[in-house]
Amino acid sequence: MTQPSPQEIAEATDLRQQLRHHDYRYYVLDDPEIPDAAYDRLFQRLQQLEQRYPQLITPDSPTQRVGGEPLAAFRTIEHRLPMLSLGNLFSHEELIEFDQRCRRGLGLSQDDSEIRYCAEPKLDGLAISLLYLGGELVQGATRGDGKSGEDVTHNVRTISAVPLRLRGKRLPRRLEVRGEIFIDRTGFKQLNHQRQEQGEKLFANPRNAAAGSLRQLDPAITATRPLRFYGYAVGEVSDDHPLPPSQLEMLRQLQQWGVPISPEITQVAGAEGCHNAFLHLQQQRQQLRYEIDGVVYKVDNLDQQRSLGFVSRAPRWAIAHKFPAQEEMTRVIAIDIQVGRTGTLTPVARLEAVAVGGVIVTNATLHNQDELSRKDIRVGDMVIVRRAGDVIPEVVAMIPEMRPAESTPFLLPQHCPVCGSAAVRSEDKAAVRCSGGLYCPAQRKEQLKHFASRRALDIEGMGDKLLEQLTSKELVRTPADLFTLNRDQLLTLERMGEKSVTNLLAALERCRHTTLPRFIYALGIREVGEATALALANHFGDLDLLMAASAETLAEVEDVGPVVAASLSTFFRQPHNREVIAALTDPLRGGVVWPTIAPQRDLQPAAALSPFRGKKVVLTGTLSRLSRSEAKERLQAAGAKVTSAVSAKTDLLIAGEEAGSKLEKAVALGVEVIDEERLFKLLEEIG
Ligand code: IVH
Repeated sequence: MTQPSPQEIAEATDLRQQLRHHDYRYYVLDDPEIPDAAYDRLFQRLQQLEQRYPQLITPDSPTQRVGGEPLAAFRTIEHRLPMLSLGNLFSHEELIEFDQRCRRGLGLSQDDSEIRYCAEPKLDGLAISLLYLGGELVQGATRGDGKSGEDVTHNVRTISAVPLRLRGKRLPRRLEVRGEIFIDRTGFKQLNHQRQEQGEKLFANPRNAAAGSLRQLDPAITATRPLRFYGYAVGEVSDDHPLPPSQLEMLRQLQQWGVPISPEITQVAGAEGCHNAFLHLQQQRQQLRYEIDGVVYKVDNLDQQRSLGFVSRAPRWAIAHKFPAQEEMTRVIAIDIQVGRTGTLTPVARLEAVAVGGVIVTNATLHNQDELSRKDIRVGDMVIVRRAGDVIPEVVAMIPEMRPAESTPFLLPQHCPVCGSAAVRSEDKAAVRCSGGLYCPAQRKEQLKHFASRRALDIEGMGDKLLEQLTSKELVRTPADLFTLNRDQLLTLERMGEKSVTNLLAALERCRHTTLPRFIYALGIREVGEATALALANHFGDLDLLMAASAETLAEVEDVGPVVAASLSTFFRQPHNREVIAALTDPLRGGVVWPTIAPQRDLQPAAALSPFRGKKVVLTGTLSRLSRSEAKERLQAAGAKVTSAVSAKTDLLIAGEEAGSKLEKAVALGVEVIDEERLFKLLEEIG
């Protein structure tokens, strides 16, 4: 093994320290000093050194957050001190009673001064216990039943907000930090958005998302989830470093050691102080970065806490004041189907109006057929609806006891309610989609945009804004209508003067002369990217033959699997789509033509030889030679599947300048990373 030079050893140590410092600035102080990209460079440099000299790796190195194989099962961990839960209260009166109970418990009289409390947001995540020995994180355990929980050490290590080692010199030999693992609003939105795109089940709320993410046997999955952590208590602690005597001071001490704590914690006096803090946080609630479901009041003085002690499984010195419910009950009047921009059919419950957490709700999403069947929601059912932060209200469950006698299960229609085309369910996904691609009004604009895009028919000047006007004024319904647009019509549109109209008409004229692969690609058939379009054109050489092919014949084409074949044959079976294609190729209407090609059934398309073929690729950062969309198109043409989020399934990350968190994640997951230079080279090689 090559040995690192003393400079390299020093550099690695220094990089580790810098990275820890920046984690602290970011997660604990919420005040980063450097941009993400600069952090990423430090991280990469450290990784480079550690790759070259594995002996430099330390277990608490910031690069070592993901490691090891997935587990077969979680180990059980006994909590040496039980992890308690909290009692609840819901009104001002109950709050006054709580304060009086504490006063009595402490033997305080009317004349004594008010009790000092710590008022903390009640974070809506899940409780965790982190054990630090000599300042190093050695174990993470869930609360479980309070007596024993699950060993999730491998997963908590992937959470950047959890320090792998505490800061400072004077650290307790043993310190158990307790706190909450949660997902903030932005993280939750992104996570669900990503899951929706991938046809996966959505998380009902950030708490479920956090719990689901932490209870993964494979830490690589947890690493991709935007988990955060705030400490709020200590469990077991060795007596070599006495903690300050107050809850707030103790939290400050944790913060100094590098443990993030909620910035909203305050110290207040008596029941009135608690009440004010409650009102304040309730009012702040929607603006907070994370979801809270109430306020926790804790007697601030730790000696007083000790003397008050516990009742059964909850402390006498702390209580949770819950916000009014975000869930209510109402009746489903109807279930409607919405068709999204990309053709996804989403069932939506129309509800009898009900106020949920102060907002009137009349619609709630049922997500998709799987969710709907699982919850078995029917028209006429009494249901529980829930609002969680900014998330669209959703139907949580129906109440079986209140179901009307004559109800029937609801099934998604077989046809698109907007255009009547067949609705198809992709094999591996929960989503049902309209197959009316070229024709469906709900999908029109997106389809037209694709049709006109650079690697499809390449209609110069046919931008988003123009298409928006053309579709909303109903001048264009299908791609064929684009070719019938005349000067007068175009001149009525905003920002279309003589010159731009002339240019656009010339562009339309030019793009009539296209190629068969481009034309097939332009049709925007699901699962048919450029590479597949090319393979199909080469295989059949003729559009009519392709359109007449059965799913079996289609599946014979190189690169066409059963999913693509099914998608193609459903598409070509729709009369609407056939009409649009006929109009496009009719010399008197669309007039689109292409040079004939001899079918080359045995010849493999370039993509077949491409190193990108079948790879899941993500692009990030700024590229200098190509635009992001050009790079995407070329990669797709080379057979890659270009996705937006880095996950354990990603094969390759292409990192441009100023690449940020995606790069960090890819590195953490061990995904192969290449730069623009290399991308260019590989693309050139395959031509
Ligand atoms: S203290 C001895 N503080 O609420 C009391 N808990 O209902 C231990 N929680 O399991 C809990 N925010 O997951 C405490 N600021 C906070 C909290 C908090 C959320 C959760 C925690 C606990 C549950 C109890």
